[in-house]
Amino acid sequence: MKSRAIRIDRHGGPEELKMVEVDVGEPGPGEIRIRHKAIGLNFIDTYQRSGLYPFAMPLQLGMEAAGVVEAVGEGVTHLRVGDRAAYASQPPGAYCEVRVMPAKCVCQLPDAISFETGAAMMLKGLTAQYLLRKTLPAEGLQTGDFILFHAAAGGVGLIACQWARALGLQLIGTAGTDAKCQLALAHGAAHAINYSTENFAARVKDITGGKGVKVVYDSVGKDTFEGSLDCLRPFGLLAIFGNGSGPVPPFNLGQLGAKGSLYVTRPTLFTHMATRESTQAMADELFAVVASGDVKIPIDQRYPLTEVQQAHRDLEARKTTGCTVLTL
Ligand SMILES: NC(=O)c1ccc[n+]([C@@H]2O[C@H](COP(=O)([O-])OP(=O)(O)OC[C@H]3O[C@@H](n4cnc5c(N)ncnc54)[C@H](OP(=O)(O)O)[C@@H]3O)[C@@H](O)[C@H]2O)c1
Repeated sequence: MKSRAIRIDRHGGPEELKMVEVDVGEPGPGEIRIRHKAIGLNFIDTYQRSGLYPFAMPLQLGMEAAGVVEAVGEGVTHLRVGDRAAYASQPPGAYCEVRVMPAKCVCQLPDAISFETGAAMMLKGLTAQYLLRKTLPAEGLQTGDFILFHAAAGGVGLIACQWARALGLQLIGTAGTDAKCQLALAHGAAHAINYSTENFAARVKDITGGKGVKVVYDSVGKDTFEGSLDCLRPFGLLAIFGNGSGPVPPFNLGQLGAKGSLYVTRPTLFTHMATRESTQAMADELFAVVASGDVKIPIDQRYPLTEVQQAHRDLEARKTTGCTVLTL
């Protein structure tokens, strides 16, 4: 069987993304074959393309999709042929019509959730889940607590804004334009700061009466790291989970003591998704907040898979908001 797929033969810019035809075989033990209905675009795809996260070549990109299970390998018990399914995957390879992949990270998609929504929400929604529910300060988070979430109008960001509101947290969101700040507020952020024009650390101190926040969720990295440390109250936690502006350079651990016995972590979704059980438990929470209407998945852009180069350009140029879906 053949599939159209987007592949790179070397790391580089969006121009390296090429449409090719690949052979797709039968699933082996622990694998399924899935025919995609929609594919999710993620910032991590740009790191894998550029080489910030290096891979052996050639590489079929893509980490998130939804579709219909077409064939099931030996030992797979949680999926059957014909099931609607969605996933955030390791290894990459979602930019295609049909693929064979490990079944472990694939979940049945509830009937009430469309394929497009499934494709948009798995990687970003499971990330919001582990950040807000599992990446916590030592004393936990209580109703009314302040947290700071950078890039709050992005894909992970707009899901986190809504989920934090449902948890009773006061999420302070940052974003690069006033329009994006309005979007974060409309999705449940309690406050929004335009970090292109304002000193976000000073604003956070104002908003919290000088105390600071318990957790900063920072996916911007290099440009925000220092300011993020200054937003924390004593014993606060900085979760650096992305490199939107570039990776955080090595830093002096002594800073953490001087700024109030702070904690820093660098989590990734795929540690949390290490087992089928942990993946399903996280997905069940995500499906529940989407089913209840507490979290609506904002699909703000759609590109045909053939226009994936433009999708990458727009994402890296900060032109997108919310989630982006690649259509087939
Ligand atoms: N570790 C994990 O488990 C994990 C999982 C999923 C995602 N992530 C990370 O979470 C972040 C959000 O992912 P996403 O797919 O939802 O993307 P996104 O937030 O929709 O897009 C990235 C956003 O980062 C902001 N940004 C700030 N400085 C930037 C710069 N110099 N260049 C480009 N963008 C910049 C932009 O928003 P403004 O214009 O508002 O600044 C941009 O829209 C990414 O950094 C991603 O790598 C990490």
